[in-house]
Amino acid sequence: MSANPPLRHLLEVDDLSAVELARILDLAELTDPPPVLAGSGGVLLFEKPSARTRTSMEMAIDQLGGHPVSLSGSEVGIDTRETAEDLGRLMSGYGRVIGARVFEHHKLERMASVASVPVVNLLSDDAHPVQTLADLLTLRQCFGRLDGLTVTYVGDANNVARSLAIGCGLVGAAFRISSPPGYRFDDTSTDRIRSAGTDLTVVDEPTEAASGADAIYTDAWYSMGQEEEKRIRQEAFARWRVDESLMDAAGDGAVFLHCLPAHRGDEATDGVLDGPRSRIWPQAHNRMHSARGLLLWLAELSTDQDPERGGTS
Ligand code: CP
Ligand code: NVA
Repeated sequence: MSANPPLRHLLEVDDLSAVELARILDLAELTDPPPVLAGSGGVLLFEKPSARTRTSMEMAIDQLGGHPVSLSGSEVGIDTRETAEDLGRLMSGYGRVIGARVFEHHKLERMASVASVPVVNLLSDDAHPVQTLADLLTLRQCFGRLDGLTVTYVGDANNVARSLAIGCGLVGAAFRISSPPGYRFDDTSTDRIRSAGTDLTVVDEPTEAASGADAIYTDAWYSMGQEEEKRIRQEAFARWRVDESLMDAAGDGAVFLHCLPAHRGDEATDGVLDGPRSRIWPQAHNRMHSARGLLLWLAELSTDQDPERGGTS
């Protein structure tokens, strides 16, 4: 009898291999998914607001026969009412997966270090891997492939940008980014992105970054927790707005993506968000399909690992 492989978590996209990521995207498109969560479900913790992530995760759990329980940060009090570790131990007994949206990424690592079920990052200040799964699924549906695409990100080099850049490396897409000085990837993120195999190019001018890209992606200029910086960031990012002329620089075949919620008129104009090249609604709806793919993949792993669920180890 061989030892069980270590429990897998998804805290950042590079927790997956390229093959595993492709498998999740394939499972996301399964039309008749098996009820792998029947009789169980998942616990979802949110220290920050959410519309897409909470709804898509809850629906995905339901579609797999499970029951989702969502709790706000103020209810559970991560590290105020009880520690992240104790919540990891607690919630491991109530469901087959723990999802958590937190400010400090380290809280996820601490939860995962003791949890006996997979911990999934539902957005931290550092990373948003479940968003990247939907982004890549959308791009694959738009272009029929991911390998060889060029994704240009215009705006804040934030959690969404970092996970997407890493994901691009895993699927063979090049990643270009244009951000104002002071809002670019730090050395740690740059090293991590390049370690994932990403062909990363940093370009000063947004128009130059857009030229010839297959997709233009942007996100909020100020993320959750940065609201006090709104004014200063609006000034700093004014030249990094995605408008029709920037989309024209990309070319006719380019699509526009945004993780949403959008701050209309800031990072993107209405004309782009609602325009013919925008794929933001299929992208948002793919949050549910890719979440289901992720949960199916995690269930496959647990079957492999647990003899009582049909595994062989
Ligand atoms: N894109 C995204 O994560 O949206 P929510 O914050 O609404 O979950
Ligand atoms: N970068 C944004 C993404 C929201 C989905 C934030 O962290 O608030």
